[in-house]
Amino acid sequence: MKRFQKSFLKQEPLPQRSIEWVTEVMTTGRLHRYDVTDDDPGHAALLEQEFAVYQGSRFCLAVASCGYALYIAMLAAGVKPGDGVLCNAFTLAPVPGAIDNCGAKPILVETTRDLTIDLDDLRAKCGQAKFLLLSHMRGHLSDMDAIRDICAERSITLIEDCAHSLGAWWGDKRSGGFGEVSCFSTQSYKHLNSGEGGLLVSDNEDIMAKAILLSGSYMLFDRHLAAPDENRMAELATMTPNYSGRMDNMRAAALRAQIPNLDVNCARWNERYEVLAEGLQAIAGVRLPNRFAEERYVGSSIQFCLPDYSQDQMTAVVQGCAEQGVELKYFGYDEPRGYTSRFDSWRYLHHGIQPETLPSTIRTLATLLDMRVPLTFDIEDCHLIVEIIADVLRQVDV
Ligand SMILES: Cc1ncc(COP(=O)(O)O)c(C=O)c1O
Repeated sequence: MKRFQKSFLKQEPLPQRSIEWVTEVMTTGRLHRYDVTDDDPGHAALLEQEFAVYQGSRFCLAVASCGYALYIAMLAAGVKPGDGVLCNAFTLAPVPGAIDNCGAKPILVETTRDLTIDLDDLRAKCGQAKFLLLSHMRGHLSDMDAIRDICAERSITLIEDCAHSLGAWWGDKRSGGFGEVSCFSTQSYKHLNSGEGGLLVSDNEDIMAKAILLSGSYMLFDRHLAAPDENRMAELATMTPNYSGRMDNMRAAALRAQIPNLDVNCARWNERYEVLAEGLQAIAGVRLPNRFAEERYVGSSIQFCLPDYSQDQMTAVVQGCAEQGVELKYFGYDEPRGYTSRFDSWRYLHHGIQPETLPSTIRTLATLLDMRVPLTFDIEDCHLIVEIIADVLRQVDV
């Protein structure tokens, strides 16, 4: 029996420069982002400046996590307790969690079989909310031209959750370039790795001024380098609570040195993804989600469906692959497992959302598998993984 030996959780080591900078920060003891000197603005402020340049956005703020970034992004964009916020039914638990943290109410929108938000359902539910928190879940971009038009027609503020789509493009714009405010994760299994961390970008002065104050800038907001005019922040300061969630200089130092490699790494993910996609596509009974021609994705994970399989058969596939060292995640379980949970298990949300209210999402998730593609895998590894999945599928009767 073939066996895959590598870990699906093992990331590459950080660049030598990250190690040097982090060591330097630890040596000086100046870990707090506002502990700066006249000739050294600190890694957090420099990270914000450099990430803003990478993203092509005017302003950037580094915070404790993407979930936290989403929370203050919504507050800064004007979400109030009791407001509805449209969001994908297929997303990760921190997303409804961030909406709940604002005291707002998620209005879940159906998922297509291509893992994007269902535009018909979105149009149908638009009357219920003035905000759309759009997750580019597992790196699948929705039709961003249509989303932009819907938001413009219905005066909906778009907030992009780019936790899985850093480095991706739609046409000539980066993912994160469409939202009034957009958020990224630097948690270890994302495209930049600082253990935990989040980045928030916007071109809107008021939103970014509020976000900086909300993140806990005290009256030290002039130490931000990718920020709006200080006077605007000063005007808003006493009317904006401090929800303390800053990033420290150590994590920022680890991240700064990764940005120059980001696009090269995205290309390396795609080399691996393409081998996996081609191999999986060739197996009978496997369906890969379609992608739009305008999308340039980053294949740091791969999703595929087994449309003819029951839940028991899906479980048998996951188990069979695990026995041969291939770790697949299944989104169709009735109860949450590990990092994955289906929307109907978020029972704190207005006493739970019944699965039958979002039938298309349930149908899609029922046959959906997901696999991480760490850069510690090489091309040969990807061929072996395809062989193992093909073997297991041959063994599971449908
Ligand atoms: C789609 C999505 N959005 C947001 C988040 C939150 O990111 P973080 O862990 O940095 O808070 C995650 C976390 O994995 C996620 O998968």
